[in-house]
Amino acid sequence: MLAEIEKLHEEIQQDLDSIDTMEQLENLRIQIVGKKGKLTAYFGALRDLDAKDKKQVAQRLNTLKDTFERLYEDKRQVLGAAQLNAQLEREYVDVSLFNSLKPHSLGHPIMQVLDRIVDYFVNMNFSIQSGPLIEDDFHNFEALNLPKFHPARDMQDTFYFKDSLLLRTHTSPVQIRTMQTHSLPIRVIAPGSVFRRDYDLTHSPMFHQVEGLVVDEAGRISFANLKFILEDFLRYIFGDVRVRFRASFFPFTEPSAEVDISCVFCEGAGCRVCSHTGWLEVLGCGVVHNNVFKAVGYENVSGYAFGLGVERFAMLLHRVNDLRSFFETDLRVLEQF
Ligand code: DAH
Repeated sequence: MLAEIEKLHEEIQQDLDSIDTMEQLENLRIQIVGKKGKLTAYFGALRDLDAKDKKQVAQRLNTLKDTFERLYEDKRQVLGAAQLNAQLEREYVDVSLFNSLKPHSLGHPIMQVLDRIVDYFVNMNFSIQSGPLIEDDFHNFEALNLPKFHPARDMQDTFYFKDSLLLRTHTSPVQIRTMQTHSLPIRVIAPGSVFRRDYDLTHSPMFHQVEGLVVDEAGRISFANLKFILEDFLRYIFGDVRVRFRASFFPFTEPSAEVDISCVFCEGAGCRVCSHTGWLEVLGCGVVHNNVFKAVGYENVSGYAFGLGVERFAMLLHRVNDLRSFFETDLRVLEQF
């Protein structure tokens, strides 16, 4: 019997060597130590042996069983690792691979237009300033010559917090903050989001503005400088358009003007978009009011300022008639840019 067991040992060794799947290994396990396995059968046969042989054979069987279990476990690990490697190989994803099926964003249309606006002024040697979105009454209104109860405050429907804090209704407060912290000459733009209680075809509660401010010693900055740069800027953005300055009112500038370009839809002939005037209003501007300089303690200076709405520019450039479609994150819309 011992000789047979020796033979079984060799057999097991050979079988294990030739196995290369988990399935084969499992079959072998059943064949050897399963209920009807060869080794199990030898254990069963022990009871027919006399006491002396029994002990010797039992010892040999136990060693073989231990050996088999160890070899089985080793093989299982080797096969398991191989299986995992094969699976990793099969499911390998090259994340660096260019995927032409996925759309590639060139940025949100509002940001594309904003970038273009900023580019112009940066090339003209303006630097960029920013300010907080939550402003106080002083910076958003008071210092801009909009005292409490001034009727022009109604032009801007404001979101208020407690303690005279509010969501800034325009980027003009950055003018004040810049003058409070910088010395002359000042030549800045301030792009950023602003907030008003408004929601319709052409208004959204959050939108973007770009503010401009140029200040230098008295007599060095005139309306002519303002006119030159805005005309040049508007042609850079809208191409070959006519530009006109129309007298208007803003509390923080005197004189003030609104600037129109010839309608980009009908080229000035008159259409629904321009209300048959041939002109589209695109920004507000003027010579900085002396009260604004007073509020920041400036004397003997002169300057101009302007402000524009980025969404309005984007609507005109891309011929979008509902401003809200910029904010609805509808891919069918965004993919067109
Ligand atoms: N702050 C104005 C607005 O919100 C825009 C504006 C007009 C800004 C004239 C200016 C300016 O700096 O001079 O509508």
